Amino acid sequence: MNTRVLEVSDESLRLAGEIIASGELVAFPTETVYGLGANALDPRAVGRIFEAKGRPGDNPLIVHVSNMEGVKPLISGDMPESAGRLAEYFWPGPMTLICSKSPLIPSEVSAGLDTVGIRMPSSESARRLIELAKVPIAAPSANLSGRPSPTTARHVLEDMDGRIPLILDGGACEVGVESTVIDCTCSPVRILRPGGVTPEMVMGILGEVRVDESVLRPLKSTDTVRSPGMKYRHYAPKGKFTIVKGKNAVKRLMDLYDQSLSAGENPCILAGRGVDYGQRRVIDLGDGVNGAASNLFSDLRLADSMGAGHIYALAMDTRGVGLAVMNRMGRAAAFDIIEAED
Ligand code: TXA
Ligand code: MG
Repeated sequence: MNTRVLEVSDESLRLAGEIIASGELVAFPTETVYGLGANALDPRAVGRIFEAKGRPGDNPLIVHVSNMEGVKPLISGDMPESAGRLAEYFWPGPMTLICSKSPLIPSEVSAGLDTVGIRMPSSESARRLIELAKVPIAAPSANLSGRPSPTTARHVLEDMDGRIPLILDGGACEVGVESTVIDCTCSPVRILRPGGVTPEMVMGILGEVRVDESVLRPLKSTDTVRSPGMKYRHYAPKGKFTIVKGKNAVKRLMDLYDQSLSAGENPCILAGRGVDYGQRRVIDLGDGVNGAASNLFSDLRLADSMGAGHIYALAMDTRGVGLAVMNRMGRAAAFDIIEAED
């Protein structure tokens, strides 16, 4: 299949809407990451998403809507009160709400669960696409399963060339990490995956929130998996990835880098601002946690393309969006986290 890449415009959006309505796939930008979209109500179209990504069938998809009227037919009964209030404050935006699903949602989308994740993106072109397609759009991140999520059209092309007919190019994604996934079927609501809408922000609206324990550690075999996506190794670069934390982290990181260099591992450092790593090879992670959120996935892809055999990074503060960054870094590093206290 020939994969076209077209800049976002009235014309390309109209074409994309037609392609989705006809049961095929389109990759499109959102404020978080690029999505791989299909008609959420058509099981065959949804099946193509799993095929193109090589995604396990037990990992459910998020359904994207362009307005609140679009939500009603997708859920059973009314939205839980908590979900309604979160939607009021943070939609459109980088937040997915898990609610009980209506029979309209095919089991291919929910992966057999009785719930569905719904998101109204703030990206105007994404909402316009949903309106033009005239159907809700099921969309996971547009990467091959296991690879870092794409934050540019070029990343999507790297993974999806020849697998889908169209990629819409809307430039780099603003947030850079995927949406916050919040289970609203329980009380207090539970954050299953951290993102741009932070626990502090949810707390500010609802007064209570839980963060799933698996967010900052690997799953144990005894864990109940609330969000199937958390089972899988994610965001994995080709090389090894080690995170260093603690009082002496900077010195330890540089020592590890030097050993790795001597061992011929071709190391690199994902570096935030304000630390001098001397002559060592660094990839810029940008300023603070927001910079890290927008740059992490593209940096991991860059490290791969440079042939880095071992990537090192300092741990980040887990407040605010930092929690999302540390969740993604932790998974990319398969939780290889070294404590350097002395
Ligand atoms: O920002 C985003 O959320 C992007 C853009 C394209 O919207 N989408 C995205 O989708 O990241 P995906 O498929 O890569 O990640 C969806 C996550 C997975 O971890 C999945 O297990 C979880 O959401 N999820 C989806 N539906 C769920 C449900 N009903 N219950 C629990 N977890 C669910
Ligand atoms: Mg994904």
